[in-house]
Amino acid sequence: MLPNSLPAPELFLPTSGEPALRWGIIGPGWIAGAFADALHAHSDQRVVAVGSRSQERADVFAAKHGIEHALGSVDALVSHPQVDVVYIAAPQSEHEALGLQAIAAGKHVLIEKPFTVTAAEARSLTEAARAAGVFIMEAMWSRYLPQASVLRQLLADGALGEVRSVLADHGQSIPTDPTHRLNRPDMAGGALLDLGVYPMQFAFQALGAPETIQAIGALTESGVDAYATVVMGHGGVGQSVVTTSMVARSHTSASIAGTDASITFAGPFYNPSSFRLVAAEHFGPVVEWSDPTPLRGFDALSWEATALARYVAEGRLESPVHTHEETIGIIGALQEARVQLGAVGAVREEVAA
Ligand SMILES: NC(=O)c1ccc[n+]([C@@H]2O[C@H](COP(=O)([O-])OP(=O)(O)OC[C@H]3O[C@@H](n4cnc5c(N)ncnc54)[C@H](OP(=O)(O)O)[C@@H]3O)[C@@H](O)[C@H]2O)c1
Repeated sequence: MLPNSLPAPELFLPTSGEPALRWGIIGPGWIAGAFADALHAHSDQRVVAVGSRSQERADVFAAKHGIEHALGSVDALVSHPQVDVVYIAAPQSEHEALGLQAIAAGKHVLIEKPFTVTAAEARSLTEAARAAGVFIMEAMWSRYLPQASVLRQLLADGALGEVRSVLADHGQSIPTDPTHRLNRPDMAGGALLDLGVYPMQFAFQALGAPETIQAIGALTESGVDAYATVVMGHGGVGQSVVTTSMVARSHTSASIAGTDASITFAGPFYNPSSFRLVAAEHFGPVVEWSDPTPLRGFDALSWEATALARYVAEGRLESPVHTHEETIGIIGALQEARVQLGAVGAVREEVAA
């Protein structure tokens, strides 16, 4: 039986009691620009400072996005007295080191996906943040979208019955230019970490951490994973299949099948999207849902920022919908798949050597 009505999403709407935090950005590249614009347009959060490895790039970014303080070093950014929370949007190879710097300066931290390159790095960051009493979470914006809230409630209510399988995909066609960060082992490139993190976190959300992981795929000439299929067993009769590719733009949809019903998110499932809930019996009822809010595409990055401000005000140190332990597990599963494929950098020391 499908529910008569779908649960209403919990929305991380601005002006619902959360503080207007003052944000500092490290890594003023592509996603950082989208993030700053989304915050200023759709939340009460304010980007007050940007830190770059170059004063000139900081100046250009600050002027373009209406940011008061343009700073020519990471040190200046993390130690700036007006910054409450640091958003790290540098490549993943830098996430752990930059995160530790921000934590040492006593700031709350939001780190772009993938949180880190290895599970050990993820654990080091979360332990350091907890010891310092600051909040840290991965900028897994998909978890803070309205659809994620509806899905959480459906799973908690048992609307799908026993969850048996998950299929989730994320493939993009990335330029083959060897200098592109996704083709570079020294920048922790590869499909799994950068794109596969989305379907992997989706599988974790429905079935929890896997007990077994089997990966097939292929490497680029530079030695990072070009594509992968990861088949996971979750104990009992739970299974998941995560596919990812940086050599083909794929359907990017995701589905969960349970004993009573299945749910399928249209691609791209990690963006504001729609879903169909289908009863398990043949020709059974179908319920359709689509995001009722006006936020589409990267405007929806604002949800995670408002959520973070609310969590900080509640005195939390981690996201209740994406805990530290789960974050470490997701990075660990991606790392295991990369190790099985022989990707350069799956064991971090290989790159440092
Ligand atoms: N949430 C999403 O939808 C989404 C989308 C795209 C990317 N991302 C994530 O966001 C991060 C950045 O991606 P992006 O596409 O925005 O990258 P990008 O355009 O290349 O920007 C990254 C910025 O990081 C800074 N940086 C610091 N250390 C660096 C280093 N060692 N090498 C190169 N740049 C360095 C650079 O700024 P300065 O040189 O000025 O310091 C650069 O502009 C990645 O972790 C990625 O996975 C998330």
